[in-house]
Amino acid sequence: PATDRDTVERLLRDVPDFPEPGIRFWDLTPVLADAEGLAATTRLLSAPAAAGVDAEVDVVVGIEARGFLLGAAVAQALGLGIVPVRKQGKLPAVAASRSYDLEYGSATLELPADVLAPGARVLLVDDVLATGGTAGAASELVEQCGARVVAFSVVLELPALHGRDRLGERAVHAVLER
Ligand code: PRP
Ligand code: MG
Repeated sequence: PATDRDTVERLLRDVPDFPEPGIRFWDLTPVLADAEGLAATTRLLSAPAAAGVDAEVDVVVGIEARGFLLGAAVAQALGLGIVPVRKQGKLPAVAASRSYDLEYGSATLELPADVLAPGARVLLVDDVLATGGTAGAASELVEQCGARVVAFSVVLELPALHGRDRLGERAVHAVLER
């Protein structure tokens, strides 16, 4: 029988030369569009290993954009709420803001004001860990607000880009590597 991981691998697709020539874009759209794919992904991301073995989590933080879809599903599975980390200019009230470099270009992420309790134990969720710029900036935002990143849970890690190095000692759980 197919495992959850098999299901995700079967539905995952890569698009060459997007958004720029030379960049291989890993697209989870077909995974999330499929009922079994979404269920399998949610189980894998919310498994105890994903939340750090034995670690307690108070809230999920999802990173724009696919981290919203995945994060909300994970939060539901864990019986928790979700806080969005957004691209700059979208939030009416901002607790903290951080710029970072991407594999292509640069961007700024913001954390909403007044929703993350000091000391909250956070499970950070996104689709892909590439250079780690995004996850690193999101982690720093969470910590700048006095909360703690218990673990970073991601569907796909690209180890050749050494994203883990940008996350220091923080626990990283990747369902797949490419
Ligand atoms: C992609 C992906 C991750 C990030 C990973 O998002 O969804 O969030 O890049 O790259 P990194 O580890 O090198 O930072 P993107 O910036 O394309 O934006 P989007 O999710 O809003 O589409
Ligand atoms: Mg993203």
